[in-house]
Amino acid sequence: MFKNLMDWLEYRMPFKEKMDLHVTQYPAPKNFNFWYFFGSLAMLILVNQILTGIWLTMNYVPTAEGAFASIEYIMRDVDYGWLLRYMHSTGASAFFIVVYLHMLRGMMYGSYQKPRELLWIFGMLIFLVLMAEAFMGYMLPWGQMSFWGAQVIISIFGVIPGIGDDLTLWIRGDYVISGATLNRFFALHVIALPLVLVILVFLHLMALHEVGSNNPDGIEIKRDNDGSVEQTEADKKFTFHQYYTKGGKKIIVDAIPFHPYYTVKDLVGVAGFLLVFAWFIFFMPEGGGYFLEAPNFEAANPMKTPDHIAPVWYFTPFYAILRAVPDQLLGAVFMFLAIIALALLPWIDRGTVRSIRYRCGMHKVNLIIFCVSFVALGVLGVLPATETYTILARIFSFTYFGFFILLWFYSKNENTKPLPERLS
Ligand code: HEM
Repeated sequence: MFKNLMDWLEYRMPFKEKMDLHVTQYPAPKNFNFWYFFGSLAMLILVNQILTGIWLTMNYVPTAEGAFASIEYIMRDVDYGWLLRYMHSTGASAFFIVVYLHMLRGMMYGSYQKPRELLWIFGMLIFLVLMAEAFMGYMLPWGQMSFWGAQVIISIFGVIPGIGDDLTLWIRGDYVISGATLNRFFALHVIALPLVLVILVFLHLMALHEVGSNNPDGIEIKRDNDGSVEQTEADKKFTFHQYYTKGGKKIIVDAIPFHPYYTVKDLVGVAGFLLVFAWFIFFMPEGGGYFLEAPNFEAANPMKTPDHIAPVWYFTPFYAILRAVPDQLLGAVFMFLAIIALALLPWIDRGTVRSIRYRCGMHKVNLIIFCVSFVALGVLGVLPATETYTILARIFSFTYFGFFILLWFYSKNENTKPLPERLS
């Protein structure tokens, strides 16, 4: 009877067929390493954020009068409210750590290169929405940093010539940051942006599965030896043999089914992640003042500016670039350019070899300098803008953009290593 029911369903909605195609039988390159944990970990955190968020919303009060007290109520009186809140607030930082590592993996193995440009663009849209989502979430506890951080970030839009003032008024919904602002940020944070995020992640995966995963060697997992055999739709149905023949040609298939190989392997990543995540939640939930900043344990007070206002750590690389440029408008332009440059990587990188393993020494050095610059800017963005720190922020902003400019030049005629025949 059960089989009949399943057949009836399958005929009308081929759920099993789709699951096979996109999950269980998805042909994954056989050489994924730990860098490939971060995609599934990002999905796990997304689910964590949505679930803990729903339960937090049950006791949170989205008004300027009630918000701060409702968070205290959740922390002290709601059963396991503290756990829900810390899973959510630590989850936000974990999300960015995982997504930054996920992006770095893409940069190391050239996963943004043809034919995965669209996948990368969806990733960048996810990143933008994630930043908006985190920013609005941070406003909700209505603490001092929620209020003053929002003040700083929203005023950035004010530097846009002509429309700046009207735009900030439109975002705030008031002449100052107020309950009206909190209300709309709440609506966007709990429903609109999560919905967009989930849709974007779905599109991200659809785009990935259309072209297939890249891998640490950056070579195709399924190809004929000399590129002369045309691949058809039917060829996309993998057999997971190492070879098959077509038109008398040997076609290489270096893939393994996602299940059980990577479901099991990803579980190791999940276990490792949960150990670290739980340690932070139980022993260091405010992350030493980086996940939840000290002034945010004080209720928002429009009459008292905190001594030092800094956004949460995951925004600070970009915030440091904003502050490094003397002119306000130019600073905002460079800050947005820093993100746009990342989105344009598929076109800035004119190389044909994907993986860092087979690219020139210059590329390795360039990527390392980029990573150092990104982290250094992140650290500088948290610190007060003294003269020395500002000079350092300028140097690292320069090297940050230098990565893209250099890449554009040397990638055209790069001295690459020979690619292997098969996955290593
Ligand atoms: C909510 C955030 C995100 C989720 C849930 C997510 C999920 C995933 C998953 C499950 C995969 C396949 C497994 C893997 O390759 O690790 C993947 C691949 C990929 N993602 Fe994401 N992703 C997110 C954000 C991003 C961002 C911000 C970028 C970059 C801008 C990005 C770029 C990529 C690329 C290039 C691949 C293919 C990697 C390869 O095949 O080598 N993703 N993503």
